[in-house]
Amino acid sequence: MSAPHQLDQRARNAFREAFGYPPGSVAVAPGRMNIVGEHTDYNQGFVLPAAIDRHTAVALRLRRDVRIALSSDRYGGSIALERLPPRRQGNWADYVLGVAREIGNRFGEGPGFEAVVASDVPVGAGLSSSGALEVALAVALLAARGIEMAPLKIAQLCQTGENEFVGAQTGIMDQFTALKARGGNAILLDCRSLEDEYVPLPGGQLTWLLADTRVRHELASSAYNQRRIECEAAARELGLTSLREASVDDLERIADPVQRHRARHVITENARVLSAADSLRRRVPRGLGPILYASHESLRLDFAVSCRELDCLVELAAGMPQVIGARMMGGGFGGCALVLVESTGTDDVEQHLSQGYAEEFHRSPQFYRVRAVDGVMPERVA
Ligand code: GLA
Repeated sequence: MSAPHQLDQRARNAFREAFGYPPGSVAVAPGRMNIVGEHTDYNQGFVLPAAIDRHTAVALRLRRDVRIALSSDRYGGSIALERLPPRRQGNWADYVLGVAREIGNRFGEGPGFEAVVASDVPVGAGLSSSGALEVALAVALLAARGIEMAPLKIAQLCQTGENEFVGAQTGIMDQFTALKARGGNAILLDCRSLEDEYVPLPGGQLTWLLADTRVRHELASSAYNQRRIECEAAARELGLTSLREASVDDLERIADPVQRHRARHVITENARVLSAADSLRRRVPRGLGPILYASHESLRLDFAVSCRELDCLVELAAGMPQVIGARMMGGGFGGCALVLVESTGTDDVEQHLSQGYAEEFHRSPQFYRVRAVDGVMPERVA
């Protein structure tokens, strides 16, 4: 659990230590959870994410030349480059470089910079550590260059950086959340119109527990891009721009069985997002239970992005009366399961999950009890 100002301070101190003078700008962006709406963002569908109290801070100062120097207390190792490289490096710096490149493409190549990253967003856990890094870097670098940009535009810029430089064909959910989240709320985002609505999350009686499998299967990034291709092929076969326009009745017109399953997930998941948002608006959060389980089944069977470790955690959670609902979260093939728990039962649930998971996989899951917090704030840029 982190407060943004702690990370802000950590990044400032680390910057001073590394370079001997203070940074010119600092920005702090949160990681995210997603209540429901998985693999729907790049299909122009609906998502329901919230920012969580885990943050990444970037402290930055422009240079007089075009060199770039990066260091991080999280990812380890310093990186020094003669100039902004045209191609990816194959490490964490790519998220930084992709965004810097995109800012250069839009506003003209600027000077080089020194940047320090401090973070407590778990990496590889599906909590969007990369989205938080991109957004914090973008906000800090834009501020340093004196460029003003609307949050939505910054989110799109970061997404383009990730798609084109890093090569991950991800949607806009993570960056949008890091920029626009509001404490105590989820965001119902329509990824086609990019209209958003804040939906209140339940108060202290219920707890969002993230159970981290601590595995990340190799398959993750290639399978992600593959799913996107399959979805786009399914939409094309239906003569539609995206699966957002498709309905369950269209499914029988998709000849390829794999594409049909992928489409069914997206169509039914969009409907689940809307009904989850409705439960939250009506302040009946326990109504989320069946929606979360149905989402998991759909991701497991139709979209085929779950794995044994995630299925195990969700099954164990489903066996407990204190659990309202659970599902795998994020891109899949590892990372976290999202578990909505009656707060009084959280310790018991953690213990049960730990034990059952260790019996099966000889290791313990890691738990994060998270709260919904604000996105990156302009006043944190200084
Ligand atoms: C990753 C991507 C998001 C989204 C999710 C799956 O987190 O970055 O854009 O597609 O996977 O819902």
